This record gives sequence, C-alpha cells and structure tokens, in this order.
Amino acid sequence: MTEKRNNDAFSSNFGMIAAAIGSAIGLGNLWRFPYLVGQNGGAAFIIVYLIITLLICTPILLAEMVIGRRGGGSPRDAYIKVTGCKGWGAAGILGMLTCFMIMSFYVVVGGWTIRYLVMSIAPGFHRGAVLDSGAIFGGFVSSSFSPIIYSLIFILLTIGIINLGVQKGIEKTSKLMMPLLFVLIVLIGIRSVTLPGAQAGLHYLFKPDFSQFTFDSLLAALGQSFFSLSLGACMMVTYGSYTPRTSNLAKNAAIITVSDTFFALLAGCAIMPAVFAFGINPSEGAGLVFVTLPQIFTQMPLGGLCAILFFVTLFLAAISSSVSLFEVMTATIMDVGKTRRRTASSICAAILLFTGSICSLSQGALRSITIGGKNIFDQFDYVSSNILMTLGGLLAVLCVGWVIKKKIFIDEITDGGNIPVSKPLASALFFVIKYLAPIVIITTAISSIF
Ligand code: PFF
Repeated sequence: MTEKRNNDAFSSNFGMIAAAIGSAIGLGNLWRFPYLVGQNGGAAFIIVYLIITLLICTPILLAEMVIGRRGGGSPRDAYIKVTGCKGWGAAGILGMLTCFMIMSFYVVVGGWTIRYLVMSIAPGFHRGAVLDSGAIFGGFVSSSFSPIIYSLIFILLTIGIINLGVQKGIEKTSKLMMPLLFVLIVLIGIRSVTLPGAQAGLHYLFKPDFSQFTFDSLLAALGQSFFSLSLGACMMVTYGSYTPRTSNLAKNAAIITVSDTFFALLAGCAIMPAVFAFGINPSEGAGLVFVTLPQIFTQMPLGGLCAILFFVTLFLAAISSSVSLFEVMTATIMDVGKTRRRTASSICAAILLFTGSICSLSQGALRSITIGGKNIFDQFDYVSSNILMTLGGLLAVLCVGWVIKKKIFIDEITDGGNIPVSKPLASALFFVIKYLAPIVIITTAISSIF
C-alpha cells in the first residue's frame, strides 16, 4: 500500500530551516571549502565565493523552494504540477540521479569520517598519527574491505533516520544536530586561533591574494557554492514540498545561505590557523582533513580532545547532508514506484552499497580504471558537482523564470499577499532567476569546456 506522502511535512518553519541547514552544512564546508580556499588564493577565493553565493545562488535556492512548495510531492511530481507538462518531470528524475551520484562518493567519505572518529577515541591514534598520518590514511582508503564496511555503517545510520519519516526522523535530528555543530566548530576554532603563530592563518583567510586566483578558481567558487547550498539536486524542491504554507520562503533562503556560509568561514577559522601554526602548506588538497589535521592534533595542547570534537563535527555534518540526499532519492522512488517509505529507502540503500563500493575500491583495487584521467571516485565528484548540479540549477531557474512566471513566483513567496516582501526585492530576485542566473550558469559552463 502506498503511504500518503501529503502526511510528510515539517511541523514548523524552524524544523524546515534546521533540516535545510543540515543539508547545506556538510563535508563541503569542512572538507572541501578549506582546501579550495587554500588552493585558490585565500581571501580572494572567499570574496568571490561570497559574491556568487549571495547574488546568484541564494535566488536559485529560492527558485527550488518555490517549485517544491507550489508543486508538492516528489521532485518529479512538483515539476510536472508547476509546469503542467509531463516532460518537466525529467528534471525531478535528474535530481534523483544527481543525488545517487553524489551519495556514491559521499557515503565513502562518511565512512572515513566514522573510521577517524573511532580512531580518535582509541588511545593509540595520537601516537600513530605522529608516525605517518599520510601512510595511515592511504593504507586505509586503498584497502578493499574496511572502508566499505564503514560506508555500510554510514548508509545504515542514514536509512535509520530516513525510515523514521520527515518529522520524527529528518526534522527532529536536524533540530538537535545543527546547534551542536555550531557549538563544536566554535570550540575548535577557539583552540585553533589561540595557538602561537595562528595569526598567519587568519591573515591568509582574510587578506586577498588575487595573483593566485585564476579562471578555474572562479569555476571552483561557483561549483563550491552550488555544492555547499545543495543546489541543483532537487534537495530544496523536496524539502520545499514539506514546508508550511505560512513560511516566508525568501527569508528562509537568506537564513540558510547565511548560516551555511558562516559555518564555512568558521570551519576555515578552525582549520587554517592551526595549519599555519604548525607550518604546513595550506594547499594540501583533499587530504587536508584526514592527513594534515591528525598530524596537527597530535602536536597541539588538548589535541586529543580536539580530534574527537572535530571528527564528531565532521560526522554530524556528513550525516545530516546524507539524509537530505537520501530523502530526494527515497521520495522519488516512493512516487515513481508507488512504494512505501521503507521499501523505497531499502532499494536506495542497496544501489548505494554497490555504487559506493565501486567508488571506494577506485581508491585501491580498481585504481587503474580511469575515465577521462580521473578515477571513478573523482569522476563521480566531478560530474555531479560540475555538470549535473549546474544543469539541475539551470532547469530550476528556467522553470520558475520562463515557465511558471513572475505572478506565481510572487504569489508563492508572499503566500498570496499574506507575507510582506517588498516589491523591489521580489522583482530583483525574479530578475536574477530569469536572466542573471541562467546567463552566469550557461557562460561558465561554455567557457569551462574551452
Ligand atoms: N551541501 C552538502 C555539503 O556541503 O556537503 C552536499 C550536498 C547535500 C549536495 C545535499 C547536494 C545535496 F542535495
């Protein structure tokens, strides 16, 4: 029997905001943002990132919310309802496929996070990391079984929350985890900025060096903003459909963006000062969190405690995002296959275990298999973040700007005139959705090809 999905909804506006922030704050903030800042000129990257996020990506987030709340149901359903055209359902299916692709490598990194959390609690971690954190990390991720087992644990924890439903699972856990995440990252940040020599890291974060900022940095900033705000994967279309009618969508979009960006900056303040205090190269790359930081934790006062706090933070951030990706997939399968929540989530988990294992093995046993010069893990990350999410974001703005039009957009963000949103602001948001966002997305996509 099919469950009535209309019963799935957030109980309050705060619940919706917590869940959406939970989706936005994730490995992207703690694992990707700091190393992108490190590789692209420090504050120069941050400034461009802030401009893109505020001007372009927040309106895209709003566009997705409008589609979800107006249409209701799964992303496929929502697109069909708001456009009145079955073909647009493909945009919802694309969102689900994007989530599958992201989740395939996300569960692997989520598994690493659990492994490191366990290691940081075990007494030997401290000394082991001093010996050679690079070899420890390399040895672990390239082994065949252990990372897959940890990915499986991560998938099972995610599915446990999903099976509890929208209110009891997603909303309740997000309300608990989000405040905790902010407290934890502030605690780690305080320890980091009070280390001797930490000022150099703050300088690096807040003093721009445009000589290191290239066109690729611009693409990276746009890609990171999409990834961090969970755009283009129908996450906000799905959560939008669970949002109360009385919620002020424009205000929610602003709160979600500001919180996510603030958290990314806090993560930068927690990581970079420590990196500089120990004289380590900030452009370390993806290994920053799993190789560089463990080294630092072993050398600094209160490092053992900081390591535990950091990996708890990383785990909470990863699981709350993973829940949102899983929910898009589950909602779509419930809708398309007319199945119950538990059946749909089990199907997703089975597929993910397979695709996640392939991504994990591509770090070791399947390393020799490359597509376009990248291993499968990197290729999944690249295709989902740089192609599919961008395409999904483009479809969302084209749908709102050119198909459902301004009158409906304003009706939705003002709840038929009940919520005061100033006219110039509403028009500016619509202008960005209709013209600016598509132009920016299309031109960057074309120029990245050449
Ligand atoms: N925003 C998440 C992060 O920063 O890690 C990643 C993500 C979650 C992307 C959900 C897309 C999505 F639908």
